[in-house]
Amino acid sequence: MDTRIFLIGFMGSGKSTLGAKLARRIGYQYMDMDQLIEETAEMSIPSIFNEHGEEVFRKWEHDILQELCLREKLVIATGGGAPCHSQMMDLMNTHGTTIYIKLSPEALRDRLIRSRTERPLIKGKSEAELLEFISTLLKKRVPFYKQATHIVDGMNLQAEALVGLLQES
Ligand code: S3P
Repeated sequence: MDTRIFLIGFMGSGKSTLGAKLARRIGYQYMDMDQLIEETAEMSIPSIFNEHGEEVFRKWEHDILQELCLREKLVIATGGGAPCHSQMMDLMNTHGTTIYIKLSPEALRDRLIRSRTERPLIKGKSEAELLEFISTLLKKRVPFYKQATHIVDGMNLQAEALVGLLQES
């Protein structure tokens, strides 16, 4: 099994929840990129977007990813946009196994409506606007996500299934 497992996918696809469970099952340390950025910057993600803008956020995201690529035995939940900026998909594929958790725009919308995490990119959108936004952005992001080592259906996905997948490969 690779020493670094990256979970990738759109906002709301379950990367953090599954990542923490997967890490526990395989005895790896769990890392959440968004959380690491927040701790390093001593600011929340919405404040980073507000005060510094998305470009700076992407730079910090890249810096954190590079640091994580030097460490071992990690399950890493990435931010939804990470694979699509600054060659980060290549970086992850070079340094570990990537798993794309795939969900339909409708399923993502339903999960994002229920989520309590504040996400600057979707803040203040109505349900209809949200679906439109997800569909458009997902189309742009799928070419990156599709470069993952494994693509898994995120509906009813359990950490155990990911363990099986990693043991087989
Ligand atoms: C983003 C996803 C968020 C976070 C930031 C930007 C994106 O992470 O990194 O708000 O561009 O899709 P989650 O995928 O964990 O929500």
